[in-house]
Amino acid sequence: MQDLVIKGSQVLLPTGELPQLDVLVRGEKIAQIGTEITVETDRVIDGRGLTLLPGVIDPQVHFREPGLEYKEDLQTASYACAKGGVTSFLEMPNTKPLTVDGATLADKLQRAREKSIVNYGFFIGATAYNLEELETVEPCCGIKVFMGSMHGDLLVDNDDLLERIFAQGSRLIAVHAEDQGRIRQRREAILGHLSAAHPCLHSLIQDDRAALLATQKAVRLSLKYRRRLHILHLSTKLEVDYLRQYKAPWITAEVTPQHLFLNTSAYETLGTLAQMNPPLRSEADNAALWQGLQDGVLDFIATDHAPHTLEEKAKPYPHSPSGMPGVETSLPLMLTAAMQGKCTVAQVSNWLSRNVAIAYGIPHKGEIRVGWDADLVLVDLNHWQTVESAQLQTKCGWSPFTGWQLTGFPQYTIVNGQIVYAQGKIIPATRGKPLQFLPFVVGNRVAN
Ligand code: DOR
Repeated sequence: MQDLVIKGSQVLLPTGELPQLDVLVRGEKIAQIGTEITVETDRVIDGRGLTLLPGVIDPQVHFREPGLEYKEDLQTASYACAKGGVTSFLEMPNTKPLTVDGATLADKLQRAREKSIVNYGFFIGATAYNLEELETVEPCCGIKVFMGSMHGDLLVDNDDLLERIFAQGSRLIAVHAEDQGRIRQRREAILGHLSAAHPCLHSLIQDDRAALLATQKAVRLSLKYRRRLHILHLSTKLEVDYLRQYKAPWITAEVTPQHLFLNTSAYETLGTLAQMNPPLRSEADNAALWQGLQDGVLDFIATDHAPHTLEEKAKPYPHSPSGMPGVETSLPLMLTAAMQGKCTVAQVSNWLSRNVAIAYGIPHKGEIRVGWDADLVLVDLNHWQTVESAQLQTKCGWSPFTGWQLTGFPQYTIVNGQIVYAQGKIIPATRGKPLQFLPFVVGNRVAN
């Protein structure tokens, strides 16, 4: 393969500076960063006026394959990633069959090898019957524990089982922290036997205390066993305040764009499209989550891309499924916030790329450095565009952000040195790679 040169874009350096530079990509790696790079090649991107960032690593997605491909599959999902500047993803185990052992993990990896144009990693789901497999399957980014908001084998709402999971092994445990007991109780009290209700009740039933109780429980176990813990899609001020006090160096937490940019007022315009787990919260929660990101209580951003068809979403609450798509909008949403002065471009990139790579021990990704993987996204911060459902690559064909005017949309996405998205077109010729995860030593992160 010929060299690739990206000429004259503003390049985000690890220092946070954005000088105008050329970047040379040789094979799968970043080979040189400098001024006036001249090499013999036909592969040249004119980056002038554009900004070059590390590719986004989305650490929480639900891509539905195998078993639920009518909602999404690994091809459509990876196309959506490419369009959104997401060059790597970590995917959740609630597929059909569930990803709970070596065979189901190997099957997913094989499917991704065949279909995904971006890099991939997969979680194993904790159940009552796979404790041994949790620590041994490879490659695996971590153990997913649904403390609530799940049914069937993946629901771990039993304290003894939860404690056993934390007590054995050392692999990262990622928790969906909602207290199932409280949710059950409140569902009965608030909904009773109603067969249909306003979706705003979702935020009342699965309230902020349900989230706090579960987060507290997970943090207590993590402190007791000094166990690497990651709290998925943290959504409340209560949890931010709690973590500010009790978060150990081996605990990380993430937030979704939905919980930063949307709140319970979205039910009026979006109805059940605004329904997700954990639910949308108040404006005060939005503000606390932003503050948490700013001061490092929250480490990074995940989309929780959870596509459901419009037909499914049209069912009346509570029969409508929870979840929203997100991989195509996370980067422009965050860059728009940066352009509006809420944060800097360097912070956005730390939250979407660098901090994720560090937290999951993904080597040589998340920053633009010589010798590191050429996973890159070239965005346009000078043009504003409306999010349109018809333009989306996700199979579900809708977004909670449809109609929003945003900037910072990707113009080119590069994965392992290959262009997979260029100015509106997906280039499906290449395939991504399985991600590798370095072991985590508590209190002593293994550096990139
Ligand atoms: O809203 C959600 N939907 N939250 C989750 O954690 C799961 C997801 C799904 O898979 O649909």
